[in-house]
Amino acid sequence: MSSGATSPQQRVGELRAQVAHHNERYHTLDDPEIDDADYDALARELRALEAEHPDLIVPDSPSGRVGGLISTAFSPVEHRVPMTSLDNAMDRDELRSWADRVARGLDGQIPTFVCELKFDGLAMSIRYENGQFVQAATRGDGRVGEDVTDNVMTIADVPHELTAPHAPGGSTLFEAVPPVVEVRGEVYMRTSAFDRLNARAVEAGQKPFVNPRNSAAGSLRQKDATKTAERELSFWAYQLGEVIDGPEFTSHVDTLNWVGQIGFPINEHVKRFDTIDEVATHCKQWQDERHALDYEIDGVVIKVDDPKQRDILGFTARAPRWAIAYKFPPEERTTTLLDIQVSVGRTGRATPFAVLDPVFVGGSTVGMATLHNREQVAVKDVRPGDLVIVRKAGDVIPEVVGPAAQNVRRKESVAWEFPVDCPGCGVALILPEGEADTRCFNPDCPAKRIQKIAYFAARVGMDIEGLGAQMIEKLVGVGLINDAADLYLLTVDQLISLDRVGETSATNLVDSIQGSKDRPLHKFIRSLGVRHVGPSASQALADTFFTLRDIMSRSVEEMAAVDGVGEVIATTFSEWLAAQANRELIDRFEAAGVNLGDPDAAARAAEAKAAIPQTLEGKAVVVTGTLAGYNREEAALAIASRGGKSPGSVSKKTLALVIGESPGASKLTKAEALNVPIVEADGFEALLETGEVPGAALESHDSELESELESG
Ligand code: IVH
Repeated sequence: MSSGATSPQQRVGELRAQVAHHNERYHTLDDPEIDDADYDALARELRALEAEHPDLIVPDSPSGRVGGLISTAFSPVEHRVPMTSLDNAMDRDELRSWADRVARGLDGQIPTFVCELKFDGLAMSIRYENGQFVQAATRGDGRVGEDVTDNVMTIADVPHELTAPHAPGGSTLFEAVPPVVEVRGEVYMRTSAFDRLNARAVEAGQKPFVNPRNSAAGSLRQKDATKTAERELSFWAYQLGEVIDGPEFTSHVDTLNWVGQIGFPINEHVKRFDTIDEVATHCKQWQDERHALDYEIDGVVIKVDDPKQRDILGFTARAPRWAIAYKFPPEERTTTLLDIQVSVGRTGRATPFAVLDPVFVGGSTVGMATLHNREQVAVKDVRPGDLVIVRKAGDVIPEVVGPAAQNVRRKESVAWEFPVDCPGCGVALILPEGEADTRCFNPDCPAKRIQKIAYFAARVGMDIEGLGAQMIEKLVGVGLINDAADLYLLTVDQLISLDRVGETSATNLVDSIQGSKDRPLHKFIRSLGVRHVGPSASQALADTFFTLRDIMSRSVEEMAAVDGVGEVIATTFSEWLAAQANRELIDRFEAAGVNLGDPDAAARAAEAKAAIPQTLEGKAVVVTGTLAGYNREEAALAIASRGGKSPGSVSKKTLALVIGESPGASKLTKAEALNVPIVEADGFEALLETGEVPGAALESHDSELESELESG
C-alpha cells in the first residue's frame, strides 16, 4: 500500500476522491485517464482500508461497499498466478498412465496422492490483502478473468476478513495472516438450495433453472449483487493462488488445513493414498455414491501431495502435470418412454426422438432424447410404454440407450413403426438406398423451411440474436417470411403486429437482423445450410475465392481442388448454386445488402502474399484452442499468407499442431498417436517466421520422458 505516513483516515479520503474522479472520467465522460488495472488497484486499496477500519465507512463511499454507487462488475482481472485447467482421465487405464508419467517425472521418488471431489461449479480466485477481502475473479481464459467481487462478497462461506491461523509446533510463520493471499476454489449451489430456488421460480410463474451449476453461474453474473445474495451460493476452497510472505507447506493436506484455519470451508472428503490402484477404487466408489451428496460432483481430482514434487513435475501450457481430473462416465437413468415422434430438420432428415417422463440425468432434466434414425429404433426395439435407459452422449446430447433390464411388456405390444408421411407437410418420406436417414424431399415443406431459417440465424451462423425457432415459426406461420432472405425486409411495424411482440423487442430484432449483414463470407456460406458444406469447407472456399460471385463462376473441378473441399462438397455446392431458385435467393440477399465477400480482397491477398516470405509453402499447420492475439480466422490467415494450409484435422502430413487455451482433446490425441509435433502457443510466431517446428532440434536431444510429459 502506498499510504506512506498518512493516516488511514487521510488515505481513505484521498482514495475516495481519486476513485470518484476516475469513475466520472470512465462512466460519465467516457474518457478514462488510467487503465483498468490501475483503477482496480485504487478501488481495492479503498475496499481493504474500509474493511480494516469499518468506522471510516460512509454511506456514499465510491467503494460501493455501503452506498453501492459504483461497481467494477465484470471488468477484467489479470491473474497474477494463472488459473490453469486440469487434464482429464476417463478411466482406470488413463489414470494409470498419468501415474506412470508422474513416477517417471519424479525419477524414483514415490508420490503420495491426495484425492478431492471435483465440484461442479465455477472456479473462483479470491484475493485478500492484509487479511481483508479485496477482490474475487472468475477463471476466464486462465490469464484474465472477470471481476465479481460484489457478488462473491454475498456468499456466506467466503470470509470478509481472514482469521489468524494457529501455530503448529510454535512456528511463528503460521501465526500471522500473510499480506497477500489468494484462495481458489469452487462457487457452487447446493442441490437443496437449487430445489428451493426452482420452487420459488415455478411459484412466480418463471422458467425453472436447468441445473445447479447454471444457476450458480447465472447468480454470479447478476449486475445487482443483492440478487446474488438471494441465491444461497456456497464455496469450497481447494488451492492457493498468489501468496506473499506465507508459510512454507510440506504437503497439500497441510495447505488445505491452513486454508481452513484462516476461515474457509474445506470439503471433508479429502483423502491421501499411496498407490494409484487405491485411487482408482476410491474414484469408482464416488462414481457410485455421487448422488448421496447435497452438491453435484462430476469426478475426482487427484493431486500430488508434496509441493517439492509438484515443482519437479511443473506445468504444460494447459494444466499441471501433478494433478488430473478423473471424470465420471456419462450417467444413465431409467424412465418411461411416453411416445416416439419424428422431427424434420433443414435438410429434410426425419429424426425419431423419444418423449420421456422427465428424468434428471447428467446435470439436467431430460424430457426428450434422440433415437438417431429408423434403424436405431428398430435395433433398440424401444416402444412407447417401455421403461428405458437414458444417458447423455458426450455428456451433452440425451439419448435412449435401450429398454431397461426390468422392463416388462404386455403381450400385445408391437414394434414402433416409422411414419410413412412427413409430419411437417404430409408428403411421403423416402429412405434413399444405402443411406441411414429417411428424408422429406418436398422443397416447400414448412418444417424444413423453419429449420433452415433457424440454422441461418443460429449463433454459429449469422448469429441473429433474439431470432429463435418459436419466432421463426410465428413469422412463417403468418406468411411474413418464406426464407432467410425475407428476414432482411422485416420492419418494426410488421413485427409489432404479431401476437405478444412489443416495440422494444421488435426494434431489437430488426436491429440484430440488420446487424448480421456484415458477417464474414464463410459464415454466410455455412448459414445457407447446403448439405455437406460445413464450417471448414465454407472457410476454405471463402479464403480461396473471396466472394460468393467468384465461387459461383467456378467449375466443380476448381472448387474440388481447394484443400478441405473435395469432390462431394464441390458437386453438391455447385449444383445448389446452379439452381434457379437459389440464384434468385442469392440475388435477394445481395439486394438487401448482405456481405457476399469483398471483390478487392483477392488483389490485396496477392499483394500481401508477395510481401510475406512463404515460409509455410505446401505445409499444413493445425491450430486448436485459442491463441493469444489471434482469433480463428486471423490464425488461419497468418498461415495462409505464408503459403501454408490450416486444415480442420490432424493427419500424418501435418507439420505441427499448435495448441492454445482449451485445445480439442481429439486433435491432441491424434497428433500424439501420429507423432505430429505439438507446438505450444508461444511457439506459433517462430513457426510462422521460420516454417520450422520450434524446439524440434532440441527435442531430439530431450529424453523420451520429457516429450511424453509435454504432450500428455
Ligand atoms: S484444482 C491447478 N480441485 O475443475 C489446479 N479443481 O477441470 C486447479 N474443480 O477449473 C484446479 N473441483 O473449476 C481443483 N477439487 C478441485 C476441483 C477443481 C472442481 C474444477 C475447477 C477447474 C476444473 C478443471
